[in-house]
Amino acid sequence: MPAVLPLKESSRELIVDVAQVLEPYFADISASWREKITEEFHFDERALGALERIKIAAAAPYLARGDFNGFNENLTYNGTRLAKLKVDTRLVAFSLQVYQAKCEPYLGSLFGERCPEAVAALETLSSATFVAVSGAYFDAKSQESSALLSVLDAELSAGSLQLLLNRILEISRSIFGAKVGLIMLEDEAAVLRVRAATGFPKETDLEEFATNVGQGFSGAIALSGEPAISLDPGHDERFHSQALRHRAKSLWGMPLRKDSKTLGVILIGFDRPYDWLPTERELLRAIGERSALAIDRAQIAEALREREARIAELSGYLLRAQEEERKRISRELHDETGQALMVIRLYLGMLEAAVRSRTPRAKIRETVEIVDRTIDGIRRIIGKLSPLVLQELGLVAAIRKESKDLAKNCGVKTRVLVGDDVGRLAPETEMALYRVAQEALHNVAKHAEAHTASVQLSRQGDQVRLVIEDDGVGLPAKSSNSRGHSFGLAGIKERVHSMGGNVRLHSARGKGTRLEIVVPAEGVAGPEAVQELATPSIAGVH
Ligand SMILES: Nc1ncnc2c1ncn2[C@@H]1O[C@H](COP(=O)(O)OP(=O)(O)OP(=O)(O)O)[C@@H](O)[C@H]1O
Ligand SMILES: [Mg+2]
Repeated sequence: MPAVLPLKESSRELIVDVAQVLEPYFADISASWREKITEEFHFDERALGALERIKIAAAAPYLARGDFNGFNENLTYNGTRLAKLKVDTRLVAFSLQVYQAKCEPYLGSLFGERCPEAVAALETLSSATFVAVSGAYFDAKSQESSALLSVLDAELSAGSLQLLLNRILEISRSIFGAKVGLIMLEDEAAVLRVRAATGFPKETDLEEFATNVGQGFSGAIALSGEPAISLDPGHDERFHSQALRHRAKSLWGMPLRKDSKTLGVILIGFDRPYDWLPTERELLRAIGERSALAIDRAQIAEALREREARIAELSGYLLRAQEEERKRISRELHDETGQALMVIRLYLGMLEAAVRSRTPRAKIRETVEIVDRTIDGIRRIIGKLSPLVLQELGLVAAIRKESKDLAKNCGVKTRVLVGDDVGRLAPETEMALYRVAQEALHNVAKHAEAHTASVQLSRQGDQVRLVIEDDGVGLPAKSSNSRGHSFGLAGIKERVHSMGGNVRLHSARGKGTRLEIVVPAEGVAGPEAVQELATPSIAGVH
């Protein structure tokens, strides 16, 4: 909203008159005013300059032209400047009062009877000036807080470190009206590299700006942790990059520091030599501090995400390697141990037929029985390691077999419910779902003390849902779960997440456990495979 000069139309005419009449005396009045205010307070050059530009004498040329808008703009500009120079508003009021007091003695002789009116007109002008300047102070302050708030907002809303850096840079560039901006972050080798840039042509080689901590303009800021400014980068030895030298006429640099650690540097450049005012430097410092916190958090989150992704990749690899290894062992057990046992069994049979005496024959028979049991055991191991049913008849048949085993070995009544649209899935998906079901059913056998259990497999669009439920004791309270030695459920979660699926585990003490997993039904084989399976719509097996 553009600021409006708080001066009533009716007062304007008299104010213009007073300013015109006083015109010849302004030089003397201003000199005496300057003496008085500098005697009482020590203003620096820039603050005094800005105060000069808001006094009544400075208003006169605008008023003479009837240019109230120009006058107002001048007040807003110098008010903002005074705010940035951190001149207390009470001193601004004091300076206006002193000027007014210095004018008043002239008004008696110049306005005669109308003197009180002229004094009132000057008072109105001073008040209007003060109100306009205060408005500029307020705007400057709210701009600062909104800059800091937008950094906070950028932190909350930016999804990645890169987006956060871009937003911080954009906020800093626009708040100070800069032309270019850079955020450089320190890498492991203590080199500052550009991670975000604005205002540079596309073809700029941002790698060229890289600099060692301690070297050059940015390097010195990073090392000292102190801000720095260059008012003539073109001739400033601290810049070794030509692109940076010629892109800006002045450059401000602020460290991005968290506690005592420097994460990097933020640089903004202007198309004119522009010295920062105290509040501008402080605002950039505040933005730098706020941003460093956000960047630090985003870097930690990013490192964690990367680690997680690497762990997921590794665990996917390990799961595949484990399946391969299981296949290899089962092949060896089958081809070598199994074959050798078959040969032993054959020879024992021949031996049994050749031996006449009863005792050795009985011993040979016993040995044959042991070999048979061993062969059975090996078949079971082979089945678990690399389930033939799964490969040949598919997931549903393999799950049914696991459920039957559970019923047979533990007496848990188990039902398998399969939706008629499941069909055959990609081999890896079938293997993963089979392993999940296998582990869940093993858990039922090992921990649940259940009477009944069920396995449900269904397909909804491009997702497959597998639910394993029991009516047993339920999961123990979290604290008593010995995380150190239990990998079954963790393995299920890992497997399912690596497939882009979800796991839900519901349990109440004494009310059973329900494990539900949903995975994408990728790589579903064609309809002929579905036919081949010919599963009844909902089939129960006991
Ligand atoms: N169906 C269930 N009913 C009751 N408790 C269960 C059930 N499934 C798992 N649990 C509990 O959750 C714990 C973790 O299960 P998880 O499968 O991760 O490990 P585990 O079976 O103990 O060992 P591992 O699977 O590594 O051989 C189990 O120790 C058990 O206390
Ligand atoms: Mg387990």
